[in-house]
Amino acid sequence: MKAAKTTVPDILQKKERREKITMLTAYDFPMASILSKAGVDMLLVGDSANMVFAGEPNSLTATMDQMIYHSRAVSNAQPVSLIVGDMPFMSYQLSPEQAAENAGRFISQGRAEAVKLEGGGEFVKEIEAISKCGIPVMGHLGLTPQSIHKFGGFKVQGRDEAAAKKLMDDAFALQQAGCFSIVLECVPADLAGKMTESLAIPTIGIGAGPDCDGQVLVTPDLLGLFERFTPKFVKRYASLAPLVEEAVKSYIEEVKAGKFPSEDHTYK
Ligand code: KIV
Repeated sequence: MKAAKTTVPDILQKKERREKITMLTAYDFPMASILSKAGVDMLLVGDSANMVFAGEPNSLTATMDQMIYHSRAVSNAQPVSLIVGDMPFMSYQLSPEQAAENAGRFISQGRAEAVKLEGGGEFVKEIEAISKCGIPVMGHLGLTPQSIHKFGGFKVQGRDEAAAKKLMDDAFALQQAGCFSIVLECVPADLAGKMTESLAIPTIGIGAGPDCDGQVLVTPDLLGLFERFTPKFVKRYASLAPLVEEAVKSYIEEVKAGKFPSEDHTYK
């Protein structure tokens, strides 16, 4: 029997019960089907698709149309996992109206069930405008990849006292604005632990240590399907790229040798 659909209240209750939350990225129908069957709580249609799916150097060129295409493909798997659509660069930063309109597109066209956006207290009005439309919002603090030019690259955040205080203040501002959870990316583990302890909403860590309420990874990293680079915080649970290469080599050999297609794969 198929498990019941995961909802935002389920995610909040997991924090109350101190039950760890799992999230993985998904960009397409077959992978979303497998991840949901495996039992992951949330599927993030991340703008990391721009890098690990489309091969771009960063996430900055992702568009709303692209993200809606991925979100719809994921939703076609009818996953039991909650679908979270990641708002791409410049799709929400300009005004609360722009943010609400694009978050609405994620729900109505992409069939996502929540949205995620990067940034702290400066986006309270945008988060409130989206929440007012009944759309759950996940925050994202620490290393926010849409700001890499400001940070000067992919670097750990919140290392000094002032930066740590700003992260804590931002987290409370996001909670107050109505976020149902917050991704903490590349934040020192002790700070992420303190934030998790202080907040009523769940924290989902990526490179933020073991004390967050949940964890997220980019699926092609976890499966060893994206080999361009691997951040320190990634654990590879499989190395699928060589397996795919071997399978394709066997196919090429069999076609060349006239072994495929055999009678079993031929219509009489
Ligand atoms: O786009 C993405 O995959 C993300 C995760 C790294 C949290 O934002």
